[in-house]
Amino acid sequence: MANNPKRPESMERITTQALAEEFIEEQIAALRAQIGDGKVLLALSGGVDSSVVAALLIKAVGKQLVSVHVNHGLLRKGEAEQVVRVFRDELKSNLIYVDAQDRFLDKLAGVADPETKRKIIGGEFIRVFEEEARKLEGIKFLAQGTIYPDILESGPVKAHHNVGGLPDDFDFELVEPIKFLFKDEVRVVGKALGLPDGMVFRQPFPGPGLGVRCVGAITRERLAAVRESDAILREEFAKNGLEGKVWQYFTIVPDFKSTGVKDGKRSFDWPVVIRAVNTRDAMTATVEDIPFDLLQHITKRITSEVPGVNRVLYDLTPKPTGTIEWE
Ligand code: XMP
Repeated sequence: MANNPKRPESMERITTQALAEEFIEEQIAALRAQIGDGKVLLALSGGVDSSVVAALLIKAVGKQLVSVHVNHGLLRKGEAEQVVRVFRDELKSNLIYVDAQDRFLDKLAGVADPETKRKIIGGEFIRVFEEEARKLEGIKFLAQGTIYPDILESGPVKAHHNVGGLPDDFDFELVEPIKFLFKDEVRVVGKALGLPDGMVFRQPFPGPGLGVRCVGAITRERLAAVRESDAILREEFAKNGLEGKVWQYFTIVPDFKSTGVKDGKRSFDWPVVIRAVNTRDAMTATVEDIPFDLLQHITKRITSEVPGVNRVLYDLTPKPTGTIEWE
């Protein structure tokens, strides 16, 4: 990124659909001027930032955009399918979907150290993206979903916003259309671009995905327990009006088992931990006061619908002393 550029002082805060539409028109013109008839590559995770960048580029240069969605096997239930549905089926854009699930899970097998897990996921992501980029010809530009807090936090850009780490022989010019926007503005623009609410108002999701919620060495079975329990939690929070009210909520499956009783027989299964927190800046966090009957209902669903699980726990720890994630 060019030495930490500043948001122009004259730039109005984008708070309304009309302001978002104005921004979109300006960006379309700017993107066309920058890109001409060149080809642009984008790593599309399906998060709000990369999705907004993709939607802007589709409006500006259509098929000159090539998006790559890498499914590393650590996405939430339904996310990869949503990316394909929105960007290939509905917006008819050029989308390369890479099913790299086995590749990531094989590399992660037996690895319990959290930092090593993160390094493997980040490193493998760059390798998969690089392989796809090498198959393509004539790519001149690399689009990124950098947003203003990434610049303000400065130094190295957050890993999930940067496919930096690509080898030097990739001489791409960067395209960063939302680099002066704050997150709330990106969401307003996303809404004006017609992206689905599930994408625009997605809660924060760590780059290493469910990998940091499948504590310790990841196995396919325990990862499935994280994914299924997370889907139940999200469904119940949405049904009970907590979706826009709680900042971040998810489940964790630690790598130990305890005894229980299931179907009249003794079981030896994993616990699922529910985490639901509110925060302003993720530096500190408070625990949401979830109605007890809802917690009981979710417990019943998880223990009866998710294989390999016999207990559900609610994490009552604020940050500090806990972090939001467990790894
Ligand atoms: P912690 O666990 O440090 O998390 O309290 C603070 C916020 O950051 C998210 N998080 C990550 N985001 N890559 C990311 O892009 C990561 O490796 C990562 N680890 C944590 C976390 O979900 C929370 O919102």
